[in-house]
Amino acid sequence: MTSAPQQLRAPRGTRDLHGETSRAWGWMEAAFRGLAGRAGFREIRTPIFESTDVFTRGVGEATDIVGKEMYTFLDRKGRSLSLRPEGTAPVVRAVLENGLLQPGAITKLFYIGSMFRYDRPQAGRYRQFDQVGIELIGSPYPAADAEVIALAADMLHAYGLDDATVMVNSVGDAACRPAYEDAIRDAVRPDLAALCPECRVRFETRPLRILDCKVPGCQALAATVPPPRASLCAPCAEHFAEVLSLLDILGVRYRVAGDLVRGLDYYTRTVFEVHYGTMGAQTALFGGGRYDGLVEQLGGPATPSVGYAAGIDRMLLAMSAAGVAPWGEDTLDVAIICGADELRPRAQALARQLRTRWSVDVDVQRRAFGKQLQAAGKRGARLALIFDAKAGDGALALKDMTTGEQIAVDAADVVSAIAAKLAPI
Ligand code: HAM
Repeated sequence: MTSAPQQLRAPRGTRDLHGETSRAWGWMEAAFRGLAGRAGFREIRTPIFESTDVFTRGVGEATDIVGKEMYTFLDRKGRSLSLRPEGTAPVVRAVLENGLLQPGAITKLFYIGSMFRYDRPQAGRYRQFDQVGIELIGSPYPAADAEVIALAADMLHAYGLDDATVMVNSVGDAACRPAYEDAIRDAVRPDLAALCPECRVRFETRPLRILDCKVPGCQALAATVPPPRASLCAPCAEHFAEVLSLLDILGVRYRVAGDLVRGLDYYTRTVFEVHYGTMGAQTALFGGGRYDGLVEQLGGPATPSVGYAAGIDRMLLAMSAAGVAPWGEDTLDVAIICGADELRPRAQALARQLRTRWSVDVDVQRRAFGKQLQAAGKRGARLALIFDAKAGDGALALKDMTTGEQIAVDAADVVSAIAAKLAPI
């Protein structure tokens, strides 16, 4: 006896986007595209997989993202490739490879796409998730940091998430960070055994990360460490003060978060995150900051840069927590209803013609007249255009599905009749 084939399922941590979710996705991407475009950013699309080196050199071998979360595989020629876990290192790789850097000019790029991280899935944390991001490449000035953070605030506003908190901090640069890392080590060393096993490794490689470990023992120790801002060198402190002052002038609300450090190694000076409180454990909607050394690290000239990425999956969770759904209903302008089989080809041809202006559905299931009308109502059609065999050749009826009012229209006047009905009041 053969049993029914087992139902296949999407891999753990991935999901299918359909119905209202896919409509929301489309809206969020379009809104971001509009905002970034109006701010002078141009789109870049990079491959979904890259040489693993892009991330080991770009994001940092000791980071969780590269060390534990990458989908890495060998291709048939034995090359190590990785599904991109983030977009910044690939964008910088692409900018260098395609000669998009002009001396003295800035390069402003945005991207939209899926990222992949092998992490324990939970609400707001997926193994495939989508980010929208911007990278402003080539300016060392605080105005660039402020521009990027202001754009994040504008995006929050457009998405109806003004309640979200923008948190900013400075993690210093190559001049002052080593001394700060030593200060962390000095503060923690007497209680090294109290750190979690991962932080004991971080103690050697990336002591800054001990500051945002979630294990209570590590948090207690981290509380005894002076915040990074206390150890900034004068140029970094001045840069940070200027960023804050610009944010004040621009009217961007923010909170200085002394313990904010980021999980990727390329950050220098300004770092920021956007958090939305009421959505469970994964509250970070955006992450970003300045990465003055990354272009050089990937083989290019010294090119100070700043950017951010926002997670679409989490933005949608936040928007549903906030009760905002600007993508509206799934509507249909016109449903064509066919009263006789011999009229179906004509109805289908008219549907194609009308679709140059409106959303139009036409029956392809040979359903009876009444069933077609019923389906049009369920689908939310605003108008039904009725081909009625009894009415004679060329005669049609246009029914307003909201009021039930029906008028006869001549085939030659269909377009103007529909336009009059659908015109905004
Ligand atoms: P990130 O903080 O790792 O930064 O990610 C940015 C955003 O992506 C997060 O705030 C979150 O909304 C979303 N995200 C991250 N991991 C997941 C996940 N597993 N499931 C769902 N959403 C997730 C970066 O990726 C940097 N490249 C940002 C950047 C751009 N920095 C400078 N330029």
